[in-house]
Amino acid sequence: MINIVIFGPPGSGKGTQSKKIIEKYGYTHISTGELLRQEIASGSELGHQVEAIISKGELVSDELIIDILSNELDRLGNVPGIIFDGFPRTLNQASELKNMLSDRGTAISALLFLDVPHEVLIERLLKRKSIDGRADDTMEVIENRLRVYQQQTAPVVEFYRKQGKLRTIDGTGSVDEIFNRIDKVLQELQ
Ligand code: C5P
Ligand code: MG
Repeated sequence: MINIVIFGPPGSGKGTQSKKIIEKYGYTHISTGELLRQEIASGSELGHQVEAIISKGELVSDELIIDILSNELDRLGNVPGIIFDGFPRTLNQASELKNMLSDRGTAISALLFLDVPHEVLIERLLKRKSIDGRADDTMEVIENRLRVYQQQTAPVVEFYRKQGKLRTIDGTGSVDEIFNRIDKVLQELQ
């Protein structure tokens, strides 16, 4: 089984590239951001709590997201491959993911780090706001999400570098140019 973490700051293209990977390789996409947005849309009490956190650009607790993810892995069962998009967001989540996969007899194959300069991220996120209308794509929340990323999420890269699993991808250029770079790495993993 191939397990890929697609990683990078908000606006780096994780969701967009995940779609391309799925089209070509048939892997299953797990977007924790989407799972949280579904929880909000369901109108549940938990959804209300999640909404308050997402609307500020903060992270939900490690316990909550790990719980949601572990349910999703059980629901999926055996699949040829998984793309983890938006998870792990903290070092604690990275080590929990390691345990969760090891309990299921598998492991992360590689972390694809989409490297994109700050100005390009802001430009893309504001553009996305006008297309998708995501509530957390306002300038104020974007700035907080980028700050949270630097403080809590960026250290995850080291966790995978130490295990020899870090693959840095130039995340600038067209969607297809970026995908071709990713594709080269994925072909090596097959
Ligand atoms: O991954 P994505 O950018 O879609 O996530 C949107 C929001 O969902 C994040 O800004 C954060 O508030 C929340 N989130 C989280 N923990 C995760 C993934 C997403 O708190 N593991
Ligand atoms: Mg996304």
